[in-house]
Amino acid sequence: MDKLIIYGGKRLKGEVAISGAKNAALPIMAASLLSSGYSTISRVPDLRDIMTMGRLFANLGAGFHYEDRKVIINTEKMKIYEAPYDLVRKMRASILVLGPLLSRYGRAKVSLPGGCAIGARPINFHLNGLEKMGADIKLESGYVIAKAKRLRGAALYFDIPTVTGTENLMMAASLAKGITLLENAAREPEVTDLANALISMGARIKGAGESVIEIEGVDELSPVDYTIIPDRIEAGTFMTIAGITGGDIILKGCRQRHLDASIMKLKEAGLSFENVPDGLRVTGTGRPAASDIKTQPYPGFPTDMQAQFMSLMCIADGTSIIKETIFENRFMHVAELKRMGADITVEGGVATVKGISKLKGAPLMATDLRASASLIVAALAAKGETVIHRIYHLDRGYENMEGKLRKIGADVKRIKE
Ligand code: EPU
Repeated sequence: MDKLIIYGGKRLKGEVAISGAKNAALPIMAASLLSSGYSTISRVPDLRDIMTMGRLFANLGAGFHYEDRKVIINTEKMKIYEAPYDLVRKMRASILVLGPLLSRYGRAKVSLPGGCAIGARPINFHLNGLEKMGADIKLESGYVIAKAKRLRGAALYFDIPTVTGTENLMMAASLAKGITLLENAAREPEVTDLANALISMGARIKGAGESVIEIEGVDELSPVDYTIIPDRIEAGTFMTIAGITGGDIILKGCRQRHLDASIMKLKEAGLSFENVPDGLRVTGTGRPAASDIKTQPYPGFPTDMQAQFMSLMCIADGTSIIKETIFENRFMHVAELKRMGADITVEGGVATVKGISKLKGAPLMATDLRASASLIVAALAAKGETVIHRIYHLDRGYENMEGKLRKIGADVKRIKE
């Protein structure tokens, strides 16, 4: 298992090119299953999760080719409709093939994802929605076995806005008979990107990006040719890096409007932002001010930025209250940050972070994707050496993180083991 070694304390300065969004690329790859033929998806980041999706496609009998940030998928020779446990356990987003397989081929067998490091993460909203659209769903030996002649449109309401749930049902509804309404739908930019990709395939979707989405099913969709949006969470992570290192970083290609909540909170913490051609310049000066956050569905403050923001607050001038409302166990980074000297107490979903003037390097363990990112953020400002073990979590969702960090002056190296 690879580890990262970081010597903190440098002021990071320069340009970072923001990669395509993993959480938009995965559902749009799944959407290609709704059509027959060659789909081309561009600006797809070179990440472990994308390759896991590729293996899942190969397992389904679909052609999958990745080169130069471009994915080509051929669904002409699909013959298997199963997502096996071994792939789903590596990547929960594999559940995104359930809606498309069922809607287009009338059957799907997908391993239940189970819990993960950040919470129980059930998929009941995905399954209830498909049942209401006429699917016959059974749970057998850890698998979801779903069948349907042709799904029919239905009015569906989510108790909590769910990102992949909205995506799965939007894809399924695109080929269903009649109209589907998704109420209290997720409004994340990745959901809108999927809707735009589906519309380019011939789907009839209104309201993506709002909380009620209307989908009128069509009989057939064409293959997709689409370019993914830039990754807002990668951009947000580099913003916290600018803040914690007192740096000056230009985020090339970042879409500012996808990051409004994070930017407001980072401004409160004392960071400055300036629009520059094709990007956003972020500067940090001195110790950040303490600022409170509460994670919420989009357009609220993203849970995927909570850990990185907490690292910044570890050295803030004052006390910050961080409330996690999306996942019940998304504070795994706290114990690691405390090993660096951070003063954090957690009660339920609330972390109280009393800022200290300096973190100290320590050996650390990454536990999930965003926790890994938060440890890197902290290490870049810490005194001395930090060693982050189990860095494979990072490779699931950040493209060439060390390369991008080195380019802006960080002292970071990967030790392959
Ligand atoms: N929920 C249910 N039942 C469901 C579905 C969700 O109770 O059927 C609950 C979840 O347990 C959670 C809440 O609803 O408490 C919201 O979960 P959501 O379904 O929105 O999460 P997700 O779709 O599984 C996506 C991202 C996550 C991101 C969350 C929240 C992808 C592939 N994953 O997960 O990304 O944290 O939305 O924004 O899009 C990451 O990239 O590090 C990551 C974990």
